[in-house]
Amino acid sequence: MYPLPLIAAALATAATIAQAKTLLSIPTFDFNSTSPAASFSLSKLTHVLVDSRFQHTVDTEGQTLIPPSLLAFGRTFAQDLQELGLNGVLVQVSSSPQHNSIFLTISNDRFLDAAGRHTSEGYRLTVSADGIVIAGASPLGAFWGTRTVMQLAKLGNMILPTGTGSDAPGWGTRGVMLDAGRHFYPPQFLTEICAYLSFFKQNTFHVHLSDNLFNNVDIYSRERSLDLYAAFRLNSDDEAVEGLVRPYRFNESYTREVFDWVQGECAARGVTIIPELEAPGHALVIAQWKPELALDDLSLLNISHPDTIPTIQTIWRTFLPWFHSKTVHIGADEYDASLANDYILFVNTLSSSILSASNKAIRIWGTNEPSNTSTISRNITIQHWEFFEDDPLTLLRQSYTLLNSDDAFYIVGKWSGSYPQQLNLTRIFAGNPAGGPFAPFVFDTHNASNNPRRDDPRVIGHVAAQWNDYGPNATTVHEAYYAWRDALPALADKQWGGVLTREEYDSIFADLHSIIPGQNLDRKVKSKGNVILRYDFSTLSDGQIKDTSGNGYDATCVGCSIHAGGVLSFSSPTSRLTTPLSSKGRNYTLTLSINPSSLARTGSPILSGADSTLVLGNGTLPFLGLLSGNQAYMLNYTLPRDVWTDLTLIGRGNATFLKAGFGGPEMQFLAILGINGESFQWQPIAIEAPIAQIGGGGFLGSVKKFELLASA
Ligand SMILES: *[C@@H]1O[C@H](CO)[C@@H](O)[C@H](O)[C@H]1NC(C)=O
Ligand SMILES: *[C@@H]1O[C@H](CO)[C@@H](O)[C@H](O)[C@H]1NC(C)=O
Ligand SMILES: *[C@@H]1O[C@H](CO)[C@@H](O)[C@H](O)[C@H]1NC(C)=O
Ligand SMILES: *[C@@H]1O[C@H](CO)[C@@H](O)[C@H](O)[C@H]1NC(C)=O
Ligand SMILES: *[C@@H]1O[C@H](CO)[C@@H](O)[C@H](O)[C@H]1NC(C)=O
Ligand SMILES: *[C@@H]1O[C@H](CO)[C@@H](O)[C@H](O)[C@H]1NC(C)=O
Ligand SMILES: *[C@@H]1O[C@H](CO)[C@@H](O)[C@H](O)[C@H]1NC(C)=O
Ligand SMILES: *[C@@H]1O[C@H](CO)[C@@H](O)[C@H](O)[C@H]1NC(C)=O
Ligand SMILES: *[C@@H]1O[C@H](CO)[C@@H](O)[C@H](O)[C@H]1NC(C)=O
Ligand SMILES: *[C@@H]1O[C@H](CO)[C@@H](O)[C@H](O)[C@H]1NC(C)=O
Ligand SMILES: *[C@@H]1O[C@H](CO)[C@@H](O)[C@H](O)[C@H]1NC(C)=O
Ligand SMILES: *[C@@H]1O[C@H](CO)[C@@H](O)[C@H](O)[C@H]1NC(C)=O
Repeated sequence: MYPLPLIAAALATAATIAQAKTLLSIPTFDFNSTSPAASFSLSKLTHVLVDSRFQHTVDTEGQTLIPPSLLAFGRTFAQDLQELGLNGVLVQVSSSPQHNSIFLTISNDRFLDAAGRHTSEGYRLTVSADGIVIAGASPLGAFWGTRTVMQLAKLGNMILPTGTGSDAPGWGTRGVMLDAGRHFYPPQFLTEICAYLSFFKQNTFHVHLSDNLFNNVDIYSRERSLDLYAAFRLNSDDEAVEGLVRPYRFNESYTREVFDWVQGECAARGVTIIPELEAPGHALVIAQWKPELALDDLSLLNISHPDTIPTIQTIWRTFLPWFHSKTVHIGADEYDASLANDYILFVNTLSSSILSASNKAIRIWGTNEPSNTSTISRNITIQHWEFFEDDPLTLLRQSYTLLNSDDAFYIVGKWSGSYPQQLNLTRIFAGNPAGGPFAPFVFDTHNASNNPRRDDPRVIGHVAAQWNDYGPNATTVHEAYYAWRDALPALADKQWGGVLTREEYDSIFADLHSIIPGQNLDRKVKSKGNVILRYDFSTLSDGQIKDTSGNGYDATCVGCSIHAGGVLSFSSPTSRLTTPLSSKGRNYTLTLSINPSSLARTGSPILSGADSTLVLGNGTLPFLGLLSGNQAYMLNYTLPRDVWTDLTLIGRGNATFLKAGFGGPEMQFLAILGINGESFQWQPIAIEAPIAQIGGGGFLGSVKKFELLASA
C-alpha cells in the first residue's frame, strides 16, 4: 500500500468532466466520467479503508436507534465482496486513501432529496485509476455507495470507469410491509429479506406482528370466532401480557432475544424494522385473550370499555423497550366509521402515551373516521392505502405527514378476489398517470389530479404491502419472497427516484440478483453441473457415504447398513443419513427408490430439511405428504410398505409434484385455501426439497439410488 495523492488530484480535476451519464444499477446512478476515460479494476483491490476520523461515526438521522458505525459498515462491505469473487480484502482504518483501495469517509457535501430536504443517505462516489473513494453524508450513505460499487463491478466485469457521481434518495422511507400476523416467518427469513431490500437501497421493513383471519360475522358463531386463526408474534414472559401468546404458538412467535437479533441483523445492512401491533380493529387475538374488551364483532375492540385503552397501553409499555426504531405502528386500520370519536381518542391517546414512554412517534393506517368534534393529532403519520379510507391531498392540506402504501401495489399471498399475487412491473415502470414511472408521491396511479407535487415535503416515502388474507396454510414462507423476487428491485429504483427503464431492468436483474449478499432466499446449492448430489450407496466406511456427483457432498450415516445392489437400510427409529446440505429451492428433481417397512411409524419423516419434511403420513392418515412450516400438504397417495417404489419429487416453478413409479402420473401438492368460511380455493404450492437428512424420526426400511438435480 502506498499513500495516494492521485485520488485527491482526481477529485480536484473532476471539473474537467467529459459527460454526465446514468450508469445502470438498481437504483440508477448518475455519473460524470473523467476525460480521457480511464478505469479502475476491482480485481486489483486489496483493502477497504475506513477514514480514521469517522470510524466511530453513526447516522443519527435515520429511523434506526442502533445505527452501525462507518467501520462496521466497512466490515460488512468487505465480506460482501466475496459475492464478486474477491476473497481476503482487508479492512483497515486509515487517515487517507491508498493505492488499490476503497476509502470510506464522510462528506461535507449537502445531499438533497426530492423535496429539497437534507438527507443523510446521500453519497459521492469517485473512481480514479488507482482506487475508489466513497464519501457518505453519513455511514449509511457510504454503505449505499458500496452497493453501487458492487453493482457497477458486477455489470462491468469488475471494471469501473473513472469519474465522479453524487447520489441521494428522493424519499427517506423506502421498503415493504409483510403480514407476519396471519403467517409465521422464521427470524432468519426476516433477516434475509432485509439483505434483499438493502442491496437495492431500501431501508424500511415494516413487520405486521398481529392479526387474524377475516371474522365473517355473517356466518361465524361467537365460539367459532373465538377459535379463528389469530396471532400475536411477540412473546414476553412479563405477566402483564400473560396469555396473549398461547403456549401452542410459542414456537411461532419471537422472544425479545430473537427480535433483537432480527433488528440488529437488519440494521447492520441499513434496514430498520418498523414493528406494528394492530388495534382496535384486526384485534381478534386481543379479544381471544380478553373477550370482554370486544364489540359484537370480536375482531374490533370496544374503546368505550374502561379497560380497553389501558390494556393496549400495557401491551405497548411491555414491548416498547424491545423496539430499536424511532417510529412504531399501532395499526388502527378498518375500524367502525360510526365510532369515529372513539377511534380518534384511541389513536391520540396511544400517540401521547407512546411518545411519553419512549419518545417514539407512531404511524396509523389511513382509515375513514369522520368526526365533527375531534381530529387526529398531526404528530401521527398516516399510512394511506385506499381512497375510500382517506384522501391524501386533503390530509396534506391539513398538514398531516403521509406515507404512501396505496393498494395499487398491494399483493396477497397465493390468491385473492381483489389483489394480485405479484408486484405489477408495468405499473412500476409506467404508474404515474401524468406520464412516466411510479414514484412515492403517486398515490393515485390512474388520476393525476389526486396526486401532490413530486416535491411535497410531507410525503415521506413508499412502502409496498404483502398480506396473508387466507392465512398460514395458503403459502410457504418462501412464497412470500417469490411474490417480491422479480419486481421488488424495480420498485426500489422508483422509491429512490431512479430512472431505469423496463428494458434496462430486464437486462441487468438476473446478474445483480446473483450477487445479493447475506441471503440465500432461492435456496441455491453450489454445484459443478446439473447433478447436485448422488448417493449410490456402494460403500460405507467410517459412517461416510460418498457423493458421486463430483460436488463432494458426502453424507454421514448413523445406525445404517449397506447391502448388495447399493441398498442403505435403516434398522432403528433413530437411524439416519445426514448430508452437508439443507434445502433446495425451485427448480429441482429429487429421486430415490424406497422400501418402507410395515413397521415404520405412519407419521415418520422420510426426508427432512430446513424448509420442509417429506412424511410417510400425518400421524393418523397414511398419505404421503410434505410439511412446511406448521402446515401439512398431503397427497391422496399411500406409499406401499415392504416393496420398492421409485419416487420423484419435483419442484417446478411455483408448483410441487410427486411421481411414484416410472411413468406414473405427476401428483400435485396443493394448498387448499379456506375463503372466509364460505368456499375453498385449490392452488399450487412451491415447497423446497428437504435434503438435510433421510430417516431419523421413526423411519424403518431401505433406500437406494438417491439423486438431486438442479432442474425439473
Ligand atoms: C456532473 O457534473 C455537472 C457539471 O459539473 C454537475 O452539475 C452535476 O451535478 C454532476 N453530476 C453528478 C452526478 O455528479
Ligand atoms: C362497550 O363498553 C361499554 C362500557 O363498558 C358498554 O356500555 C357497552 O355495552 C359495550 N359495547 C358493546 C357492544 O359491548
Ligand atoms: C406532539 O409531539 C411533540 C414532540 O414531538 C410533543 O411535544 C407534543 O406534546 C405532541 N402532541 C401530542 C398531541 O401528542
Ligand atoms: C357531522 O356534521 C354533519 C353536518 O352537520 C352531520 O351530517 C353528520 O352526521 C355529523 N357527523 C357526526 C359523526 O356527528
Ligand atoms: C404459478 O405459475 C403459473 C405458470 O407460470 C402462473 O400462471 C400462475 O399465475 C402462478 N401462480 C401464482 C400464485 O403465482
Ligand atoms: C398492471 O398495471 C397496469 C397499469 O396500471 C394495468 O393496466 C394492468 O391491468 C395491471 N396488471 C395486472 C395483472 O393487474
Ligand atoms: C380525478 O380526480 C378528480 C379529483 O378527485 C375528480 O374530480 C375527477 O372526477 C377524477 N377523474 C376521473 C376520470 O375519475
Ligand atoms: C391428518 O389429516 C387428517 C385429515 O386432514 C386430520 O383429520 C388429522 O387430524 C390429521 N392428523 C394429524 C395428527 O395431524
Ligand atoms: C410448533 O409446535 C407444534 C407442536 O407443539 C408443531 O405442530 C408445529 O409444527 C411447530 N411449528 C413450527 C413452526 O415449528
Ligand atoms: C383418494 O382417491 C380415491 C381413489 O383413488 C378416492 O376414492 C378417494 O375419494 C380419494 N380421497 C380423497 C380424500 O380425495
Ligand atoms: C423452473 O421451471 C419453470 C417451468 O419449466 C420455468 O418457467 C422456470 O424458469 C424455471 N426456473 C428456474 C429457476 O430454472
Ligand atoms: C387451510 O386453512 C383454512 C382456514 O383458513 C381451512 O379452511 C382449510 O381447510 C385449510 N386447508 C388445509 C389443507 O388444511
